Amino acid sequence: MKTKVGIIGGGPSGLMLSQLLDLKGIDNIVLEKHSREYVLGRIRAGVLEHGFAELMREANCGERMDAEGEIHEGFYIAEGGEKRRVDLAGHTGGNSVVVYGQTELTRDLYDARAKMNGNVIHNVEDVQLHDLKSDAPYITYRSGDDIIRIDCDYVIGADGFHGVSRKSIPKDVLREYEKVYPFGWLGVLSRTKPVSPELIYAKSERGFALCSLRSQVLSRYYIQVPLTDSVEDWSDEAFWDELKARLPQDVADQLETGPSIEKSIAPLRSFVAEPMRYGNLFLAGDAAHIVPPTGARGLNSAASDIYYLYHAMVDHYQNGDDTGLEKYSEKALARVWKAQRFSWWMTTLLHTFPDSIPYDQKLQQTDMEYLFSSEAALTSLAENYVGLPF
Ligand code: FAD
Ligand code: DHB
Repeated sequence: MKTKVGIIGGGPSGLMLSQLLDLKGIDNIVLEKHSREYVLGRIRAGVLEHGFAELMREANCGERMDAEGEIHEGFYIAEGGEKRRVDLAGHTGGNSVVVYGQTELTRDLYDARAKMNGNVIHNVEDVQLHDLKSDAPYITYRSGDDIIRIDCDYVIGADGFHGVSRKSIPKDVLREYEKVYPFGWLGVLSRTKPVSPELIYAKSERGFALCSLRSQVLSRYYIQVPLTDSVEDWSDEAFWDELKARLPQDVADQLETGPSIEKSIAPLRSFVAEPMRYGNLFLAGDAAHIVPPTGARGLNSAASDIYYLYHAMVDHYQNGDDTGLEKYSEKALARVWKAQRFSWWMTTLLHTFPDSIPYDQKLQQTDMEYLFSSEAALTSLAENYVGLPF
């Protein structure tokens, strides 16, 4: 097979790029390791910054998001029995975020690809990248007993943190920066009315908790847990009890509980791989960088990579201009590091660190007091949360 752009990974990054390129007549193929059902079964992001939402619209995939997604102009930070609102719109000249699940937006992208007869190949095995430094790179994968070869101009590594693309860059070229946090998030999805119309990020001595939602009948809650915990350690009842214990009493009293319909633990990690280009391979999204979920930046960082790559590809194929491709890694990394800084800061502000010394705890407390005493600090939080410009 032959195509212009070979995209590895059918998550939001790969599908979004595929859709945008196809709309500009740039031929591409997406290779996904798992089935569509498997990809749609993963419960992940819930908060989209406006830049991501705009990209969905540009990809002709914004209709359901605009109809069913909720615009949020603020959220709460709770601590010590009270909750204080962060006015996103008021501190950013009217900007907001969209609450719309990653599952739904991935479904919309799959549907859009199918409508355009996009080439998305599922259940590919043993994907390998070849001759990335040459003008004729190619990808191979196994389908049953057959080895299939795809020749392309460019390879996009959009295959997430555990994918094969980043690992195809020689070790002496790739520089990896990593910080692993000593806890994870236990998440529960339940068919219950959300406890609050806006998200609540709760700091408590027992650990962090987050009250989020997918719709007015579907709630998503998280609690910080030690890395040694597993899902089996947490019955639904134990989860609800612990969540309530970390929330202000009036919020806990209103919490509607019910059976979990999904329960999973995600470890928290900060990670960046540099450079994001090697020859004719370009990394995008979680394949190149991971943030702890606290600031809701992961998917949104992927969106800026896709935005830069999409425009660079269009400039290359339609205008013969390679500046965007040449500058991709530098440009993408500049924004990636800002998302890293913000996610690290919000994680540090809100979590309980098992190894923290009294000095750290004093600083954490001071950080919180400063935040709510300074319009400048609130503006900084708000402009990062709604998303810095691409
Ligand atoms: P992925 O979604 O990981 O997709 C990569 C795809 O590549 C997968 O489908 C995988 O099956 C496929 N693949 C892997 N290896 C191969 C291979 N060898 N060959 C072919 N295909 C392969 N972000 C936000 O912005 N806001 C939030 O509110 C938010 N909340 C989150 C909450 C949780 C609990 C978690 C875990 C994450 C959250 N994130 C959030 C982060 C967000 O989910 C990720 O950043 C996003 O999924 C990245 O998309 P991606 O397409 O780059 O990677
Ligand atoms: C969700 C996840 C996050 O990481 C976050 O900061 C906000 C919301 C969610 O899954 O709903």
